[in-house]
Amino acid sequence: MVPLKRRKVTTEQTATHDSKACKFPETVIFIVERKMGASRKSFLTRLGRSKGFLIEESFSSSITHVVSENNTGDEVHIWIKKQQKEGKASTNLNSVNLLDISWLTESLASGNPVPVQDRHKLKTDPKPSEVTPVIRMKSYACQRRTPLKHHNSFLTEALEILAENAEFSENEGRSVAFRRSASVLKALPHAVRTIDELKDLPCLGEHSLSVIKEILEDGTSREVESTRQSEQFQAMKALTGVFGVGVKTADRWVREGLRSPLDLVDTGQKLNHAQQAGVQYYKDLNTPVTRKEAMVISVIVEKAVKALLPEAIITLTGGFRRGKEVGHDVDFLITHPEEGAEEKLMPKIVNWLEDQGLLLYQKTTRNSYLESKDGPARPPSNMDRFERCFSIFKLEQSKIDSNAHAEASSWRAIRVDLVVSPYSQFAFATLGWTGSKLFERELRRWAGQEKGMSLSSHALYDSKKKCYLQASSEEEIFTHLGLEYIPPSERNA
Ligand code: UTP
Ligand code: MN
Repeated sequence: MVPLKRRKVTTEQTATHDSKACKFPETVIFIVERKMGASRKSFLTRLGRSKGFLIEESFSSSITHVVSENNTGDEVHIWIKKQQKEGKASTNLNSVNLLDISWLTESLASGNPVPVQDRHKLKTDPKPSEVTPVIRMKSYACQRRTPLKHHNSFLTEALEILAENAEFSENEGRSVAFRRSASVLKALPHAVRTIDELKDLPCLGEHSLSVIKEILEDGTSREVESTRQSEQFQAMKALTGVFGVGVKTADRWVREGLRSPLDLVDTGQKLNHAQQAGVQYYKDLNTPVTRKEAMVISVIVEKAVKALLPEAIITLTGGFRRGKEVGHDVDFLITHPEEGAEEKLMPKIVNWLEDQGLLLYQKTTRNSYLESKDGPARPPSNMDRFERCFSIFKLEQSKIDSNAHAEASSWRAIRVDLVVSPYSQFAFATLGWTGSKLFERELRRWAGQEKGMSLSSHALYDSKKKCYLQASSEEEIFTHLGLEYIPPSERNA
C-alpha cells in the first residue's frame, strides 16, 4: 500500500506515462470534465490509472475513447470541434468512440476495457453538413428540381425582398442575382445552418452570402429590414400592386410624392382603363386567389370554350399547374387539335363570358407571332405574341354564411389570363406559361448559352443546324435541350 503522501507525489502525469502501470496502451481514454466536475473526473482518472488504464490529461489526436457523463453526443461533438479549432487536436471524429460513462465504469469493474456496444455510444443528430455527402448542385435552375415547399424560406424571403427592390430600381442584373441565390437555397434538401455548408454551391454571390450569413448569425439582415421598412419600397410595392401599373409608371408617381392607390384617386391622376380597374378592384386583386377559386374559374372557362369549340383543349398553367395553393391570377392556355381552328376563338370566348356577366374588365391582344419574322432573328425573350386576354372575372361566391342577409351580393374580382395557341406551338406555350419566371429564364439561358438554341413560348430554333425543332410535348422539348425532364411541381425555382 502506497502511503497517502507518496501517492500525491506520484503525479497523474507520471502515472500516465508509466508504461508498466499502463496495461492497455491501445485504449487511450479522455474524460470530459464538462458537467461531470473536476473532482469526479480526477477520482475516475486516479481509479482508472490504478487499474492500468491509459487516461490522458489533455485532449489530443491520440485519444481513442472519449468518455462523458450527462452530455449528449452533439454536445461532445461541439466540444471536440472547439478543441480542434484551438489547434489542440486534428482528430478525425469518425475514428473516436464517443462514449457514455457507463462504458468506463463497466470497464473499471471488469478490470479491462470492455468491447464498445451500441448502448455505450452517445447518440448524435445527423448533421447535414457532415452526414449528407457534398451536395452537387447544377448551376442552371432548369437542371434542378425545385419543390414548392422547401427548407429555407427564412433566407429566400429575405433575398427576394432585395430582388424585388432591385426590380423597382430597374436593376435587372442585381435582381436576377438575388433570385438565383434564393433559388439555389430552395433546391437544398435541408435547412442551412452554417455559412460553410454553402461553399460549394453555385450562383451564390458575395452580396447574397453576406446577407445569408447575417441572418444565420443574428436572425435578421439589416439591409433587408431597412429595405422592407423604407417608404420608397413600400410605395413602389403598393403602386405596382395596381393592375396595369408597371415599374416605370410607379416610379414616376413615387417621385411625384404619391404613395398609394388612394393618392392616385385623390390627386386625379390620368389612368388608362386597365389602371382604373386596377384601382377599383385593388383590394380584391391583392387578395391571393385560392386553388378552390381557381378551380371554380376553370369550370367556367371550360364551359365557355366547350360551348364554342367542343374539341378545344384547355390547360391550367402558371403557378397553379406547379402545385401552388394560392396565386395572384389564374392562367389558362387554350388550343385546338386542328391547326387554324383556334383562330377566331378568343373574341367568341370573351363575348360568351361578357354575355354571362362574368367579366369586369378585359383587353385582348392579337396574335402577332410570325415564324419568318420573329423566329431565329430575334433574341429569346419572354414577351410572347399569342392572342391573349387580360381579364378580371367577377366570381360569385357561394353564400356559406348561413345567417348572412340573403341579399348581400357576394362576389369578388379575380385576375384571369387567357392565351390561345396554335396546336403546333402548344407544347412550347405550355412550357412557357407554366413558369416559374426564373425557371423560364434559366431555360432560355441554357438554350442560348449551352446549346446554341433559341427558346420561346412559340418555338425552339437550333442556330447551328439552322432549323426549328418540333415538339408535341414538354418532354420532347427537354430532350431537344439535352435536359432531364422536370415536372411542373418541381419547377418552383
Ligand atoms: P404569372 O405571372 O401568372 O406567374 O406567369 P405565376 O407563376 O402563375 O405566379 P402567380 O401565382 O400568378 O403570381 C405565369 C407564367 O407565364 C409566363 C411567365 O413566365 C410565367 O412563367 N408569362 C407571363 C409569359 O410568358 N408572358 C407574359 O406576358 C406573362
Ligand atoms: Mn399566374
